[in-house]
Amino acid sequence: MKKEYILFIDSGVGGLSTLAETMGLMQANFIYFADNLHSPYGDHTKADIFKYLSKIIKGLLKKFNIKIVVLACNTATTSSIENLRTYFKDIHFIGTEPAIKLASDSGAKNALCLATPTTLEQVRFNKLKSMANGTVRTLSVPSLAMSIENNLLYKKLNFRLQFLKDFHLVCSSAASHDGVILGCTHYSLIKHDLYKTLCLPIFDGNFGVAKQIAKLQKNNSGCNEVRFYFSRKEMGLTQKYRKILSQILANKINVC
Ligand code: DGL
Repeated sequence: MKKEYILFIDSGVGGLSTLAETMGLMQANFIYFADNLHSPYGDHTKADIFKYLSKIIKGLLKKFNIKIVVLACNTATTSSIENLRTYFKDIHFIGTEPAIKLASDSGAKNALCLATPTTLEQVRFNKLKSMANGTVRTLSVPSLAMSIENNLLYKKLNFRLQFLKDFHLVCSSAASHDGVILGCTHYSLIKHDLYKTLCLPIFDGNFGVAKQIAKLQKNNSGCNEVRFYFSRKEMGLTQKYRKILSQILANKINVC
C-alpha cells in the first residue's frame, strides 16, 4: 500500500509553527509545501489564492497518497477552505483560523486580533469575529509576515529593521488591550517575544488544530518524516526550513 502523507500548505515558514505543534502530538509522514512563489498570500485576492492552492493540491495528489490537507495559513483558510472542500470532495481539509474563540473562552473582553489584510476582508473572518463575547479589534500589518519570513531565511540588516518597525507597531497597538489574538501562522513564530514584551495573554490556535489532526489520523506511522516542497526553488531552502522547524520544536526560535 502507498505510504500516506498529511499535507501542510502555507505561503512560507509560518505553517511550520502548526506542523511543529502537530509533531508534538503524533507521528506521521508529512509533506510541507511552501508556496513561496506567491508569498505573501495576504497581498492576493481570494480567487487567486484558491487558484494557487487547487493547483498545488492537484499536483501533489497525482504523486502522493494524501487524505488530509492542513491549510497552515489563516489567509488560505478564511479565503478558500469552503471552495476547496467543494472541489476536492475526497480530501479532509483542516484549517487554521484566528484564535478568537479561544480568546473569548478565556474571558478576553478587549482583545487585538492581528491578521493579514486578506484575512480581515473575508466573510468567514467577520462571522468568527461576530461570535466573540467581548470586543475584538483588528490590526493588519501588511509587511509583518514577510519581515518574519525574511529574517528567518536571510539575515540582512534591512529585514531586521523592517521587523523591528513592525514589531514596535504591533506592541504599541496591543498595549491598550487585554490579549493578542494571532491570526496568521507566521505570527506564532513571535509569540514568545510578544508575551515577553507585552505581558498579555497571547491566543494561538495552533494547538487546537494539532489536536484535530491527531484525532483524525488514527494510525501513527512510528516516525516523523517531513518532505519539503516549494513553488519557487532556491539553493539550501530545504535545509533552512528543517533548521527553523527544529528550532521551533526546541522552543528556540529567534526571528531577530
Ligand atoms: N501564514 C499566513 C497566514 O496564516 C500567511 C502570511 C502571508 O502569506 O501573507 O495568514
